[in-house]
Amino acid sequence: MAELTLALAKGRTAIDSLRLLKKANIIFPDFDTKSRKLVFYNKDRSIKLIYVKAVDVTTYVEQGAADIGIVGRDNILEAEADIYELLDLHLGKCRFVVASLKDIPMTKGTSLKVASKYPNVAKKYFSRKGIPVETIKLNGSVELAPIIDMADCIVDIVETGSTIKENGLTILDNVEQISTRLVVNKASFATKTNEIQHFIDQLKAVLEDS
Ligand code: PRP
Repeated sequence: MAELTLALAKGRTAIDSLRLLKKANIIFPDFDTKSRKLVFYNKDRSIKLIYVKAVDVTTYVEQGAADIGIVGRDNILEAEADIYELLDLHLGKCRFVVASLKDIPMTKGTSLKVASKYPNVAKKYFSRKGIPVETIKLNGSVELAPIIDMADCIVDIVETGSTIKENGLTILDNVEQISTRLVVNKASFATKTNEIQHFIDQLKAVLEDS
């Protein structure tokens, strides 16, 4: 039986994460993004990899179905899960921003409609500013919301900036830097300390070398 279960987020950073794991000699020979398979093992079958939707990684880890997760800080912040975040993998670098079609007043007392895939992140940001908001949860194409007048602004991820630019939006503020992180289930960290620490140390060594 595998000693550790690792939940890896599907999507943009999966291949880079696997490349980093490979450099750390954590290799999943059968892994193939094109396959519909969801479970993979490393060479000595000591690590089981489950390949899951990015938004679900923190749930698998919090529930203890996975000991370790590799996922973007955007999903970690939104999930507000009771888990440890122990390592920055320095992959998938981007940022959370507030953007709108025009300069909107962001002052205390002025209520705003905010569309986002990350309503918890949006609520926290505006609450820190003392600005009351109504959040509208979307699952994608968030930049559309101000264009069709459904929201005053959005809280979303910017990587290259092309989506914001091509839709004529302006960045009003930077909220937070994002990158891929390693998260750990709290009980697993207590019961499998050596295995998890070894896993982290292997990755740390690669990160320090690069
Ligand atoms: C993300 C994000 C932005 C875009 C930013 O969306 O929500 O829309 O990428 O990237 P850029 O700054 O490089 O243009 P994603 O591609 O995941 O698609 P979605 O709109 O369906 O969520």
